[in-house]
Amino acid sequence: MRILAIETSCDDTSVSIVRDGQWVESLVVSSQIKAHQRFGGVVPELAARMHTETVHYLLPKCLAEAGRTWSEIDAIAVTTNPGLEGSLIIGVTVAKTLAMTLNKPIIPVNHITGHICSIFLDNPKPIVFPLVALVVSGGHTQLWTGNTIQTVKLLSETRDDAAGEAFDKVARLLGLPYPGGPTIESRAKLGQPTRFKLPEPLRHSPLEFSFSGLKTAVANCIQQQSPLTESDINDICAAFQQTVISTLLRKVTVAVNHSQAATVAIVGGVAANRTLLHNATEIFSSINVMAPPIKYCTDNAAMIAAAAHFCGSQVPLNTIRVGCAC
Ligand SMILES: Nc1ncnc2c1ncn2[C@@H]1O[C@H](COP(=O)(O)OP(=O)(O)OP(=O)(O)O)[C@@H](O)[C@H]1O
Ligand SMILES: [Mg+2]
Repeated sequence: MRILAIETSCDDTSVSIVRDGQWVESLVVSSQIKAHQRFGGVVPELAARMHTETVHYLLPKCLAEAGRTWSEIDAIAVTTNPGLEGSLIIGVTVAKTLAMTLNKPIIPVNHITGHICSIFLDNPKPIVFPLVALVVSGGHTQLWTGNTIQTVKLLSETRDDAAGEAFDKVARLLGLPYPGGPTIESRAKLGQPTRFKLPEPLRHSPLEFSFSGLKTAVANCIQQQSPLTESDINDICAAFQQTVISTLLRKVTVAVNHSQAATVAIVGGVAANRTLLHNATEIFSSINVMAPPIKYCTDNAAMIAAAAHFCGSQVPLNTIRVGCAC
């Protein structure tokens, strides 16, 4: 089964062709980061407009890179939620138009299911269940667990900010560019994590996350230290990153014990943080620990095709709308 998927839930326009939910024949992504950078975050109206300007040339590019024609595509998949409404509408409208004119089945996909299914992409090894999936992205921080990919259930999530959002907000406080995660990770490598003491949020709550207080603690630290030198910035990045990682992995430990997990998967944009993956591998040395290659961590349509293959089902065209895949 060869699926062409479209992802437009936030600020990346992406189209991908994936065979059997696993083998990526092509993946094209047009990032809007530069357009949003000067605002310090994603501007929804601008994001939607940019999807309309980009998606039409990504479709033929994706087919050409895969060396495929429309007749070789078995189904169209599209992200229908969660995400920015104006952005989702563009992808959904394009997918419906393609399905209707080409007479193809259409499969609605939940973006978070997509992040979880990114573990299958270009991965020849079978996933051993039970699985604990830590979804850490710009808008979500969640723990999922299950004995099969089709039956994973939400175990816990953040009460307020997502981990990726915290990286972005802290970067902004430090005058570092958007998105904050990659810059904070590289500045943290140059810093000393123990110089500044930051509180570990909700330390005594076994599974729930919270990151808004940590962001405030960083703001206070910056205020006390101001004006900041480059080495202060490196040290704050190191302390912040270490606190986020130890908070995440403390809750993952509870989830692993609770579900007797054989695999821990870290997915979503923050999974691109290789210090997080390295620390997880050290802590969970007796079970499988994995994160997808970086190109499949941040938003991409290949993971949407994987989710459509493993977890999705075809629905009538007239029932597809924003918000319809749960
Ligand atoms: N190396 C990194 N370290 C930490 N965070 C990172 C790294 N690379 C990217 N990120 C963070 O990942 C986030 C983007 O991830 P992703 O594209 O999955 O989020 P999103 O799609 O905006 O949110 P969601 O998937 O919840 O809708 C940003 O917040 C970014 O700062
Ligand atoms: Mg995402």
